Amino acid sequence: MSRKAIAAKLSAPCLAALVMFAISAAAQSTPPARRAGPQTINPGEIWPDDRGQHIQAHGGGIIKYGGLYYWFGEQRGQDVPPGQRAVSCYSSPDLVNWTFRRTVFTMTPADRPADFPGTGIVLERPKVFYNAKTRQFVMYVHLDNMGYRAAEVGVATSATVDGEYKLIKHFRPLGQESRDIGQFIDDDGTAYLIFEDRPNGWHIAKLSDDYLSIERDVHLFPEHMEGGALVHLDGLYYAIGSHLTGWNANPNLYATARSLEGPWSEFKDIAPPESKTYGSQSTMLIKVVGTKSTTVIFMGDIWRPRTQWDSRYLWMPLEIGGGKLVLPEPRQWTLDIATGEAVINKQAPAMVLPPPVPRGGPGGGAATAPPPTPPSN
Ligand code: GAL
Repeated sequence: MSRKAIAAKLSAPCLAALVMFAISAAAQSTPPARRAGPQTINPGEIWPDDRGQHIQAHGGGIIKYGGLYYWFGEQRGQDVPPGQRAVSCYSSPDLVNWTFRRTVFTMTPADRPADFPGTGIVLERPKVFYNAKTRQFVMYVHLDNMGYRAAEVGVATSATVDGEYKLIKHFRPLGQESRDIGQFIDDDGTAYLIFEDRPNGWHIAKLSDDYLSIERDVHLFPEHMEGGALVHLDGLYYAIGSHLTGWNANPNLYATARSLEGPWSEFKDIAPPESKTYGSQSTMLIKVVGTKSTTVIFMGDIWRPRTQWDSRYLWMPLEIGGGKLVLPEPRQWTLDIATGEAVINKQAPAMVLPPPVPRGGPGGGAATAPPPTPPSN
């Protein structure tokens, strides 16, 4: 029987069911195809890389280099041996379809610098900057010991974007405690490190010429907040951060200023406070400037502390402008990297978080012990 004849014998609902089955089977077994035009993001869902594995780039940061986006983040896969911490790197032409490049930085207890205090290794929130003068890629990480009492940054460098990064130094920026870090590259290319300083608040600090140290403090927010992120849009800076509640979500806030030095407005909610940022915590804001539109994406982490490999990503285009910033209720949306247009699929159901994937789920290997938490969160 010809294909036409088979199709003629099948009823319309039956055909529709077959097509849906084929689509969902394809979605489960293969990563999304790389196509031009709008690409779909499903906040809160498993985000498969080119291998079909959930992206492991938590607490991450993104840079654009040589026409591609590079996403660096905490690799929390179940195959990372206990006591060891790793950073992974993915690349994408469109911020949606990601290719796993490699594990670019690993630290085992044996790699601890001799002068690093305490025991064990905590390595979180990696952020990579490209320094055009030295042609070096410079990675900052929150480097800590098991009790989170060291509160330092580690600096690791590589000659290539996805090469093997080597730790070259570790310190407390400006001599202050530093836990969560964020990165901001202004429109003029100036690079800043954002860091949380438990006794004093959180800093926007300018990096030195070679990016290997901090040149000066640009602003200290006295509010005790972390997950700090910044974006510069139409002459205004928007700063986002979360409260200090460890892995638990809380209402993230934003403030605005005409200059990074301030004065900054008071902090306001980015979403209905009872939603606790829809279960997520800020890590970065990405501005996409296209031929038709500019979109600012909120990049958040939905942490699952006991099943870290299954922590999810909440990325949504922000309603932003004129000093206002709103994180819309998460649901499926599309991003067109060429035009810069983001379209939220209003027909799609609002995000409902699926239950955590248990041991043996995406990531492979054995379950990890519950992670430690920083002091006095
Ligand atoms: C959060 C922080 C995470 C991680 C966690 C540990 O407050 O944003 O990056 O450090 O605490 O409990």
